[in-house]
Amino acid sequence: MDNAVRNRAWRMRRKPAGLVQQDDLELVTEAVRALAPGEVLLRLVHVSLDPGQQVYMQSTQELPGGTIWPGDVIRAWGVGEVVESRSDRFPVGSHARDHHGVAGVQEYAILPEAALILVDPEAAPLNAHLNILGMPGLTAHAGLSQIGCLQPGETVVVSGASGAVGAAAGQIARIRGCRVVGLAGGPEKCAHLTGELGFDAALDYRSGRLAADLTLACPDGIDVYFDNTGGEILDICLGQMARKGRIVFCGAIAAYGSGDSRGLTNYLRILTHQVRFEAFAYYDYEPHFASALAELAGWMQAGLLKHREDVAVGLENFVPVFHHLFTSGISGKLVLQVRDGVTR
Ligand SMILES: NC(=O)c1ccc[n+]([C@@H]2O[C@H](COP(=O)([O-])OP(=O)(O)OC[C@H]3O[C@@H](n4cnc5c(N)ncnc54)[C@H](OP(=O)(O)O)[C@@H]3O)[C@@H](O)[C@H]2O)c1
Repeated sequence: MDNAVRNRAWRMRRKPAGLVQQDDLELVTEAVRALAPGEVLLRLVHVSLDPGQQVYMQSTQELPGGTIWPGDVIRAWGVGEVVESRSDRFPVGSHARDHHGVAGVQEYAILPEAALILVDPEAAPLNAHLNILGMPGLTAHAGLSQIGCLQPGETVVVSGASGAVGAAAGQIARIRGCRVVGLAGGPEKCAHLTGELGFDAALDYRSGRLAADLTLACPDGIDVYFDNTGGEILDICLGQMARKGRIVFCGAIAAYGSGDSRGLTNYLRILTHQVRFEAFAYYDYEPHFASALAELAGWMQAGLLKHREDVAVGLENFVPVFHHLFTSGISGKLVLQVRDGVTR
């Protein structure tokens, strides 16, 4: 039986040919079904817009984490208020976020309690749970700890460093005693990295002299490269890896939706310098989430870890706001506030 609540949701009409366009999706209004035991109805306040959604929308193969197919609600991490509940762990009036990225770009989500964690809106702004205290923070933590195997004193380079994952990765590497160089587009973002976020150095990857600037900034080579961009930046960093260096291959935003998947010209460096080049997926590190989250929250409360959200308002604006991810038009973690005026 249906519930009295009506939901608005973005569903896929067809697979996008490149960067998702408005016509590839439709905003539908539909009845919310009744809850089954153990389920919760979450009225979403913020949903997260992530570059990975483009990959899941565009892929025609089933990917770990879940490809989005025609008819599906566009998947997204979300945080909101419990408005109906058949779970003792999530009473009406409590706040929760999902940790599998299944809340969706919509107003209401029915989720099983196993997909949720409680959040305290007094301890941190709700949208921080989609940033430093959510998937991006956990991704940075997992990549550096599990793949990067950081040692104090090492030189770490982070691309996409002003983005959600990159900002977290650079700050965590600093906390762990490394020297951190961030790569970002433009002087303003570079100043934010070295000022507010405490990076040791920041380089503008659009300067046209990134290779030379990196050599100056990392005279003994790069021990750990945390890659969020792929493409030419990855190739340049690969060419400057130190012996036994590690490349943490987190993402390739430069290639998403653009079809730019050029090869690596500096790949021999992997052989000559015994570089480890390893990709990873957030989902694989779920057993570590609770301890990592406690560490991230502790650093945040101690003022060691800063976060910045770029909030756009209105569910109907999803597609144009999503495009900002690929045009450097954002200055922090991009979140969509589902309704005007409701922030809690
Ligand atoms: N492996 C995993 O499990 C996992 C989990 C989460 C995210 N990721 C990946 O991690 C990466 C970062 O995610 P995020 O959430 O931090 O994204 P984000 O907040 O959107 O930040 C991405 C940054 O990339 C930069 N950028 C955009 N287009 C670029 C281009 N063509 N070349 C170079 N830089 C570009 C932008 O800053 P500028 O202004 O400096 O260009 C932006 O700040 C993405 O590739 C994402 O898919 C992977």
